[in-house]
Amino acid sequence: MFALIRDGRVDPPVSLAEVPEPEPAEDEAVVEVRASSLNRGELALLAARPDGWRPGQDLAGVVTQAAASGEGPGVGTRVVGVAEGGAWSERVAVAAGRLTALEEGVSFEDAATLGIAGRTALNIVRLAGPILGRRVLILGASGGVGHLAVQLAAAAGARVTAHVLAGEEPEPSAFDVVLDGVGGASLGRAVRAIRPGGTIVLFGATDPEPATLTLLDFIGHEGARIQTYFSYAQAHPNGVAGDLRALAELLQQGRVKPTIGVTVDWRDADRALVALRSGEVAGKVVLTFPARSRTAEEEPRTVAAAAPASAGG
Ligand SMILES: NC(=O)c1ccc[n+]([C@@H]2O[C@H](COP(=O)([O-])OP(=O)(O)OC[C@H]3O[C@@H](n4cnc5c(N)ncnc54)[C@H](OP(=O)(O)O)[C@@H]3O)[C@@H](O)[C@H]2O)c1
Repeated sequence: MFALIRDGRVDPPVSLAEVPEPEPAEDEAVVEVRASSLNRGELALLAARPDGWRPGQDLAGVVTQAAASGEGPGVGTRVVGVAEGGAWSERVAVAAGRLTALEEGVSFEDAATLGIAGRTALNIVRLAGPILGRRVLILGASGGVGHLAVQLAAAAGARVTAHVLAGEEPEPSAFDVVLDGVGGASLGRAVRAIRPGGTIVLFGATDPEPATLTLLDFIGHEGARIQTYFSYAQAHPNGVAGDLRALAELLQQGRVKPTIGVTVDWRDADRALVALRSGEVAGKVVLTFPARSRTAEEEPRTVAAAAPASAGG
């Protein structure tokens, strides 16, 4: 089968390669991938990992081989999942506990946004605590996580203010909760906006400029606390599959709708990566995969080593 691998000879550093079929562990199912999405963290991983490394965490697709342990969805089930890696492939092995079945009405493209961005949005809103009737400010609201966090916080009953970089300075000391996906210098903005005793959930580091904060910056915001979020370190009382199920249900009910800024065939992943890197995409960048495994005549093109093409929809 074919997969995207890290390839430092080209920019962005990915190319298609023929790789062995997945060899699932006892608790893993094999999923034919139909859509995946890109996450900002994957840009950093692609820069840091050695050649041959297999990117891709988000996935939606169809189970072609159930887990031998009997756990999780059976063959033919439409699923959404989050892999440890290697999801930018025709097929990938995924732990049954990181998959959940998908209702017919939910598209693979929408579902492919749930693994990293959706679960981050869900868990940062949960970390904010009870927000019914409370004022929540979201910094980086036009991003993949931010769009979903706005909707989930509103669904939880908050009065939500969505902030984008070009927006006006938020009202000072006015917010019970700030969800900060920009980080860096933006953390100062979060502190200025939080009310005394409020909670800032810091989950992003998009702005490379570090924050400069001293205790004195908290005058007028006394007792405010900064709570960090790292998806890999988060305790998951319902497990990854439980989070995915909650999100898939909200999607199916129409209570959340991912914003997809760019959709690209996975063989043109270089375009997708350039679009993400440009910072000009509002919402998620999604990769789509053909419905069935390719025949020899349909062999995929090799991703060009030339200068990356501009992003398109
Ligand atoms: N902690 C975790 O476990 C976890 C999990 C997932 C994602 N993340 C992090 O959360 C952040 C948001 O993720 P995402 O997937 O939503 O990213 P994204 O889709 O690229 O969105 C980032 C948004 O931040 C805004 N922004 C503000 N200042 C920026 C700057 N200096 N450079 C680039 N963008 C800037 C941009 O919108 P405007 O310009 O319109 O404001 C952009 O839409 C990223 O830092 C990502 O790495 C963390």
